[in-house]
Amino acid sequence: MGKVFATLSMSLDGFVAGPDSRPGNPLGDGGTRLHEWLYGVETWRARQSIAGGRTNQDDDVVQENFARTGAYIMGRRMFAEGEVGWPDPPPFRAPVFVLTHTPRDPVAKQGGTTFTFVTEGIDSALAQARKAAEEAGDKDVQISGGADTVRQFLDARLLDELHIHLVPLVLGTGVRLLDGVSPDIGLAPTRVIDSPQVTHLTYRITPSWTGAPRPRRNSPTGNAER
Ligand SMILES: NC(=O)c1ccc[n+]([C@@H]2O[C@H](COP(=O)([O-])OP(=O)(O)OC[C@H]3O[C@@H](n4cnc5c(N)ncnc54)[C@H](OP(=O)(O)O)[C@@H]3O)[C@@H](O)[C@H]2O)c1
Repeated sequence: MGKVFATLSMSLDGFVAGPDSRPGNPLGDGGTRLHEWLYGVETWRARQSIAGGRTNQDDDVVQENFARTGAYIMGRRMFAEGEVGWPDPPPFRAPVFVLTHTPRDPVAKQGGTTFTFVTEGIDSALAQARKAAEEAGDKDVQISGGADTVRQFLDARLLDELHIHLVPLVLGTGVRLLDGVSPDIGLAPTRVIDSPQVTHLTYRITPSWTGAPRPRRNSPTGNAER
């Protein structure tokens, strides 16, 4: 079975969008600076049908994420912001499952992107996305955001990996990624890619926080203990 991973750009103070995010003001006030590293790379631009762009470590990361993804899940607020700006064909080129409480007919776009609106919650969205990803050749499911959606997958322990693209930027206010997530969540760092504009951090999610390794010391009886 494929993996379930979330990937988001985050400010150094923990925000994935600035204040007043809405259709017409995607990512909120000042929030598009979170994605500046992304907008310039070749793979992202190609998915927007724009020629050119940088090929560097950031581009490799974007390429890897697109290649492994067979289906996407996102929250309705992310979708509503993107819907007005994504080109046709949209960048996904795969089935997208949108969580919402308001039923809506599916939307099919060019290039293989379909938007299916799921009103039965994260388990249903994940079952549908897993099936689509499997049919795409045993690929993975990407949780694209926003924060509310990722938090639910984290809390339900349905996420295998969290990918944070940490941008050296202080937003001060807006939509925080990890507010309210259980402090018991276990995060095992598995990869760091450092590039000039952004640091790409990958964490494997473990069932619970097991504590940082502590130095061993000798007990009075001579037995090593932790
Ligand atoms: N920095 C990044 O990489 C990044 C990535 C993605 C998004 N973003 C930004 O994040 C912001 C949006 O994040 P957000 O946390 O406000 O919202 P969100 O997660 O995008 O969407 C929340 C909405 O999804 C629906 N939803 C979520 N869970 C549901 C469930 N279990 N059952 C039914 N519906 C459910 C509800 O829609 P209804 O109200 O329709 O019921 C809810 O209002 C946007 O500004 C976006 O641009 C940033």
